[in-house]
Amino acid sequence: MEAGNERAKLLRAEIEQLKKDKNAVVMAHYYTRPEIQEVADFIGDSLALARIAADTDADVIVLCGVHFMGETAKILCPDKKVLVPDPNAGCSLADSCDAAEFEKFIREHPGHTVISYVNTTAAVKAVTDIVVTSGNARKIIDSLPADEKIIFGPDHNLGEYINAETGRQMLLWPGACHVHDRFSIEKILEMKKEHPGAKVLVHPESKRHLQIIADKVGSTAALLEYAANDDAREFIVVTESGILFEMQRRCPEKTFLPAPAEDAECQCNECDYMKLNTLEKLRDALRDGEPEIHVDPELAEKALRPIRRMLELS
Ligand code: 13P
Ligand code: SF4
Repeated sequence: MEAGNERAKLLRAEIEQLKKDKNAVVMAHYYTRPEIQEVADFIGDSLALARIAADTDADVIVLCGVHFMGETAKILCPDKKVLVPDPNAGCSLADSCDAAEFEKFIREHPGHTVISYVNTTAAVKAVTDIVVTSGNARKIIDSLPADEKIIFGPDHNLGEYINAETGRQMLLWPGACHVHDRFSIEKILEMKKEHPGAKVLVHPESKRHLQIIADKVGSTAALLEYAANDDAREFIVVTESGILFEMQRRCPEKTFLPAPAEDAECQCNECDYMKLNTLEKLRDALRDGEPEIHVDPELAEKALRPIRRMLELS
């Protein structure tokens, strides 16, 4: 334990020095490991990370998150070096939407505005009209005329949520995140019986029946804000359990209970991809300038338009 702490301390010192030497900024999503969130210059949801990337004057951006987040940063900042500490940090939701299949779906339904969640590849963004995140999807869709025909992909649960909230009938792509799609309503209702005063916080990538029993449905940033401002002392958190670190940091006096998955033996639900980001890999990325994210410039130009529209509209 002692040796482990000493090693983490040394790694943190190396990372701080490398950040200065390389004029690098380290950004982390709320789902990453606590030790990564501790060394990050910025922690945020997908929307905040895209905004920060668009504004930074650092030469190097290290995105401790998953591949599509690094890709979004690279598309916004083509002249900067963008690094993702582990090249295998993918996303099951992005993988559930193949660009060629999605394009075929769009061709089969002409006359629709195409809205894609940010958890997509650059190739999917390139055939999209407006990109959204869970933090701004509702606002952006509300800004469109009520009779506008919309294709929404790839997250089916988020699409269902927006359809239910707005009364729209967007055509939905059948994609899902393997973490959010497998929370168990039975186990969560059991937890509610044991903790009757607990509020249920649900990310909209979770299934519709969980959205219905939620006290709050929202992006990671929205759930954090709700937890900080609400009077409840206990919360059941139905999203990736990495967020509990920031919740507990902001509200040390409150109790946050991770919601269990349908098939999990443990009491929490983790994104294996996000957890691939470690202090060692972050140090190596800063030191070696790789793994670097590259996006074909022609594709990047096409993918930039819907991302820019998102930033303008949100
Ligand atoms: P937000 O950070 O936009 O809430 O998204 C959650 C997520 O699944 C990121 O991969
Ligand atoms: Fe993708 Fe789900 Fe992991 Fe988010 S939690 S990065 S949507 S696999």
